[in-house]
Amino acid sequence: MKNVGIIGWRGMVGSVLLDRMREERDFEHVLPTFFSTSQAGEPAPSLGSAAATPGAAAPGASAGVAKVQDANDIAALAKLPLLISCQGGDYTEDVHPRLRAAGWTGYWIDAASALRMKKDAVIVLDPVNLAVMQAARERGLKDFIGGNCTVSLMLMAVGGLLRSGIVEWITAMTYQSASGAGAKHMRELLEQMGSVHGAAAALLRNPASGILDIDRAVSAALASPQLPHAQFGVPLAASLISWIDKDLGNGQSREEWKAGVEANKIMGFEAAPIPVEGICVRVSAMRCHSQALTIKLKHDLPLAEIEKLVAGGNPWVRVVPNDRESSIRELSPAAVSGKMEIPIGRLRKLAMGGEYLSAFTVGDQLLWGAAEPLRRTMRFLLPHV
Ligand code: HSE
Repeated sequence: MKNVGIIGWRGMVGSVLLDRMREERDFEHVLPTFFSTSQAGEPAPSLGSAAATPGAAAPGASAGVAKVQDANDIAALAKLPLLISCQGGDYTEDVHPRLRAAGWTGYWIDAASALRMKKDAVIVLDPVNLAVMQAARERGLKDFIGGNCTVSLMLMAVGGLLRSGIVEWITAMTYQSASGAGAKHMRELLEQMGSVHGAAAALLRNPASGILDIDRAVSAALASPQLPHAQFGVPLAASLISWIDKDLGNGQSREEWKAGVEANKIMGFEAAPIPVEGICVRVSAMRCHSQALTIKLKHDLPLAEIEKLVAGGNPWVRVVPNDRESSIRELSPAAVSGKMEIPIGRLRKLAMGGEYLSAFTVGDQLLWGAAEPLRRTMRFLLPHV
């Protein structure tokens, strides 16, 4: 059993992480100590039936305690050889430098973006970049950081093609779910949907009412200050939001900037990066991000060979036949929610020429987009703890 500290497990990503750890029986290998910024002293969460009991640490073990510990207690954190944080960027920026300054040399696995682009951090997505992770560990790197969800999901879909060296550039036009913004945003999306439906409900019940009257009621609800908007600031239900994350001041959003820098860092292409660019858009999906890709190939290649490269990328990617029925049934947030598989479809050559490939892919933002790479990185590092 290895001692592992888990910080911020009550949040959305942390909860999905714990669910996955229970499903994969990780607690048969790991004795967790749970840390919280607000709930220190409370009982630790249940680990599932297959797990060791927290508190039953082997003699001499420094962790595995049954009570939640204080996540701001540097000395308590520093007793663990491996920490996983789902607490968020502000916490990372506050605690990580203090831990390192205190001489802690353990492994830090993090969902937040704060450390991702640091020279001494590796971005983790082992089905795509295990070799990069191995090289980083052998060089002695200790900070293993989960990638941006949209980038990780794109690379889970087209990592095989990228590895083949045939890709010249990619545009990714995204359709990102409310979960990427946070749990409160998911709730607000549903409240907005309820509000909009409420505004038109009486008219909807009457089959004789005109659609333009219904639409007028919906438009009025969307324009009303009464529409819940504390999180998004604007309507998302029955609409979309054409900007995600901070404004970098050059016409690009931070989310769009991440696509290029993170994709190249994950792939280990930093010496000869390929352009990855696009427009990131929030849509009213709950927890799956979708993206439409245009991929410029270095040379023409038959579609069947491209499909083979894509399908060979990892065990989770699945090529969906490019026909109407398969696409509407299998290639949507509703079809993919809660699933580990990464479907990619709408694969075809565009009218611009044989080197121009289109693709559409969907993935669960909380699984491969957030929690799963962290869980797998913990398993990857455990033998070295
Ligand atoms: N930044 C992403 C989004 C989520 O807003 O959808 C996590 O990487």
